[in-house]
Amino acid sequence: MKKLELGAVSAIALVTAGMATAEPKAEVLHWWTSGSEAKSVAVLQKEFAENGGTWTDMPVAGGGGDAAMSALRARVLSGNAPTAVQLKGPAIQEWYEEGVLADISSVAEAEGWGDVLPASIAGHMKCEGSWCAAPVNVHRVDWIWANADVLEANGITMPTTWDEFNAAAAKLQAAGVIPLAHGGQAWQDATVFEAVALGILGAEGFRKAFVELDEATLTSDAMVAVFDQMRTMRGFVDPNFPGRDWNLATAMVMNGEAAFQIMGDWAKGEFLAAGAKPGEDFLCASVPGDGFLYNVDSFAMFDVDGEDNQAGQELLAKLIVGESFQTVFNLNKGSIPARVDVALDDFDSCAHLGAKDMAASADNGSLLPSYAHGMALRGAQAGAITDVVTAHFNSDMSSADAVQQLAAAIANSL
Ligand code: BGC
Repeated sequence: MKKLELGAVSAIALVTAGMATAEPKAEVLHWWTSGSEAKSVAVLQKEFAENGGTWTDMPVAGGGGDAAMSALRARVLSGNAPTAVQLKGPAIQEWYEEGVLADISSVAEAEGWGDVLPASIAGHMKCEGSWCAAPVNVHRVDWIWANADVLEANGITMPTTWDEFNAAAAKLQAAGVIPLAHGGQAWQDATVFEAVALGILGAEGFRKAFVELDEATLTSDAMVAVFDQMRTMRGFVDPNFPGRDWNLATAMVMNGEAAFQIMGDWAKGEFLAAGAKPGEDFLCASVPGDGFLYNVDSFAMFDVDGEDNQAGQELLAKLIVGESFQTVFNLNKGSIPARVDVALDDFDSCAHLGAKDMAASADNGSLLPSYAHGMALRGAQAGAITDVVTAHFNSDMSSADAVQQLAAAIANSL
């Protein structure tokens, strides 16, 4: 009996000693592989290492993260989840429902996340009231980027309506410039589509279509007009667009081969990494129409064994929402901090414009989640929409057929 008790005591001592000496470790799955993305995630790796952490990198190339999400599924199914994963929007809730996420409420409460994050962002990070993800930033999706010299040489200013955009694009095309730099990948088609949709449907229409999946809006004349505009845009891309990565499309704008790109502000990260200056070398404007499509990157921690892994998750979560990381990371990434208390003094004019528009949109009800970047809908519904958008963009499908297919695909996915 005595021996047993002693044994129990030393086991507790061992566990306690183990906790005290836990060495934070993390295997981190993410899809940040372009030049500016890699530079941004390196900031987290550095802070993690400076705080005693050992980082195992699991980058999965592929803009928008589709390939990363397939890799994640395979890892979780084989019972070997990574410790930390770039995950966002409703996908966080979907994984939570699978029972595989770790609860990071102790870090969130100790660090006062509730006081420094806007309620709209905090809502995405909570699963049934507990904290299940840590937000990194706010990316805006509905931007147009342009090469300043190319516009000036052709007597064009940033378009403020889609008609102006079409007229500018036609003029550029006649002058031998590729009007729109685009990469034919489903998520890039979806990115352009939702930007066009916001402009043509308006904020309320966008919400009805892509948040509420309202059938009348999905099949409305306005939605037909959205597909018409997509057909027009198809005429403004070069023949080599299929499969092109988004950052290569950004490079075409940078080197003057193309005039415009419609892409989230991770594209600005690429301009800045190349030393280009906003307002001088490149221009930024929100796409024609009112509203703000947000895309919040975040990390979720998966349920894994081992003191070291758990210590790694806690350290990562703490650093991610920390003020210094939120500043340096977002300066490189092209986004703005998720925290409301981080000063934007060092940020460029596009970031200031984004922050101002975001505040105004929050006030007037036009702050909306991006469907193309997994903030508005669950995977099955978002995927159903994107399939139709891509099929339309890459064929001669009529706009009327596209809206019918859209409504049918969504009905099948529910
Ligand atoms: C992510 C960004 C990323 C972009 C391109 C988006 O979905 O939110 O962080 O830079 O995809 O990969």
